[in-house]
Amino acid sequence: MNTKFETITLEQSGDFATLSVSREKSLNALNAQVHTELKECLTQLKENADNLRGLIFTGAGDKAFIAGADIVEMSSMTPEQAFNFAVLGQDVSLLFEELPFPVIACVNGFALGGGCEMAMSCDFIYATETALFGQPEVKLGLIPGFGGTQRLSKLIGRNNAKELIYTGRNVKVDEAKQLGLVVKVFATKEDMLEGATKTLGKISANSPLAVSTAKSVMNEGNDLTIAEGLKVEAKHFGEIFTSYDMKEGTSAFTEKRKANFKGE
Ligand code: CAA
Repeated sequence: MNTKFETITLEQSGDFATLSVSREKSLNALNAQVHTELKECLTQLKENADNLRGLIFTGAGDKAFIAGADIVEMSSMTPEQAFNFAVLGQDVSLLFEELPFPVIACVNGFALGGGCEMAMSCDFIYATETALFGQPEVKLGLIPGFGGTQRLSKLIGRNNAKELIYTGRNVKVDEAKQLGLVVKVFATKEDMLEGATKTLGKISANSPLAVSTAKSVMNEGNDLTIAEGLKVEAKHFGEIFTSYDMKEGTSAFTEKRKANFKGE
């Protein structure tokens, strides 16, 4: 696995890895290089998924998760370059969703524009008390381009999303939690990373196959009608009965012992 990236870092510890955007001087703003490296890194993680049970996605430093797409780089883009930039960012967001293990976004400080969008493409968001969310693109004469117009509505409801995107206002962590954007709030970044690692630990005691199947079925259902989504659920519910993990999990229950899952 190539870990020689310039704008991101990947650290693996046991079954879990932490991926950070590390452009601290620019508050981890997302330029084309960050996206290209994230795309390469996430593709490699997807291809070598057997080695991992979970990922934490965060930003370097104490001030920002990600303060958005790089405004300096965007300011001279042609419409075609801007289109390609959006597609590249969207590819990265889809890769987070396609990873067959959970991804927790750990947000401290600014999560604006593209930062809020990248956090939303993870499975769920943990945040510190300093976290600040927002989609301020209209203040720059732009619209969100890495999935914000689509994912924000699905997460917090269309009307809440429209109010936030039209005003471009910032949302403090308490409101973000109330809206359902943030799942848990921590006092410090260290507490948050420890909390996220504990959560991944709890998840990884379960069947990895069942967790990854639940993730893909829930993500697929997000774009379907309830009737179509239920069909996808029933299909995968049936298929999982062919797995070792299902036999092991149900046997362990009846034999009153701890299950020893293999992820197959
Ligand atoms: N792009 C490029 N550089 C950025 C940046 C961004 N999104 N955000 C911050 N920076 C840079 C600043 O230019 C500054 O660089 P210099 O030291 O070289 O001047 C450095 O990071 C530190 O930032 P500030 O001095 O501005 O720090 P602050 O504490 O005073 O303010 C802030 C912090 C409120 C986040 C402010 O930097 C800010 O408003 N940033 C822009 C936020 C934004 O509008 N994000 C949305 C971008 S559009 C988008 O994301 C489109 C999309 O969906 C695809």
